[in-house]
Amino acid sequence: MTQRAYLLGRPVAHSLSPTLHNAAFTALHIDAWYTALDVAVDELPRVVDGLRAQDCLGANVTAPHKQAVMAYLDAVDDAALALGAVNTIVNTSGRLSGGNTDAAGLARWMQLSGIDPSGQPAVVLGAGGAARSAIWALADLGATSVTVLNRTVERAEHVVTSLRNRLRSVDLMWGALEEAAEPARRPWCLVVNATSLGHHGAAPTVHPSWYSPDSVAIELAYNPPETGFMVAAREAGARAENGLGMLLHQAALAFERWTGRVPPMDVYEAAVTRAALSTTRTDA
Ligand SMILES: NC(=O)c1ccc[n+]([C@@H]2O[C@H](COP(=O)([O-])OP(=O)(O)OC[C@H]3O[C@@H](n4cnc5c(N)ncnc54)[C@H](OP(=O)(O)O)[C@@H]3O)[C@@H](O)[C@H]2O)c1
Repeated sequence: MTQRAYLLGRPVAHSLSPTLHNAAFTALHIDAWYTALDVAVDELPRVVDGLRAQDCLGANVTAPHKQAVMAYLDAVDDAALALGAVNTIVNTSGRLSGGNTDAAGLARWMQLSGIDPSGQPAVVLGAGGAARSAIWALADLGATSVTVLNRTVERAEHVVTSLRNRLRSVDLMWGALEEAAEPARRPWCLVVNATSLGHHGAAPTVHPSWYSPDSVAIELAYNPPETGFMVAAREAGARAENGLGMLLHQAALAFERWTGRVPPMDVYEAAVTRAALSTTRTDA
């Protein structure tokens, strides 16, 4: 029996996830197939219930359902509850458990890429879902503090206050995104751009004094692969990376939860390269 896994979202036509997971199923000779389902809000309960089928491994969840889906699951793990978003559902004999692999995927990619914020202060620009995952990953990797700067300051404050009780090892602060345009007292170890500006061909203004040659600037968007945020950071002497590593590793962690197997990352990378060559894709 061919097993099934799904992406639930709207829109989903642009997603790289089917390309990634189907390439890994094929490479590992697993008889399974991943399909993106365009699901309207009012269809969500019925579609989620369908995941309990015997042949279903589970699903990924993307916008706009990451929060709403929690109500239809049998269990939700701590990370997903704290982040307020489920991106992975596992079906175990009809019981559905939800989790979030975004923060763990970012942390794993950072570790494999030699990016170590332990004992250092870091900055996250933005206060949406990706910012929450970045804060969680930085705390997990031992950053001493994370300063969250956002266009809507109240949202930055809300993110910090809602995560503070869960992340006691890290000092969490908030402020306005414009603060990034001001000279820094000293360069930061790590600056993460979790605003959606990069995805739209724009960039937050970050003063060059925020960077030194030891700094790393991580753009969470990956399409386009090079953003204004990355270019400016490099010009100021920092190492700059995009969000492709996070995308691939959050996908790998979901795959591992469904199959108990580790997907070959070179197969994922080749699939992304093929997809980039054949079309202009935009999101996970
Ligand atoms: N690599 C990956 O696997 C991965 C995964 C998830 C997301 N991402 C990327 O992460 C980014 C954020 O995604 P998200 O899901 O967190 O989105 P989101 O929840 O919609 O949050 C968007 C953030 O961008 C800010 N923003 C939007 N327009 C802005 C503008 N004109 N000027 C300044 N700030 C602006 C928002 O500020 P306000 O609060 O003031 O509106 C908010 O902080 C996107 O580029 C997305 O592609 C990557």
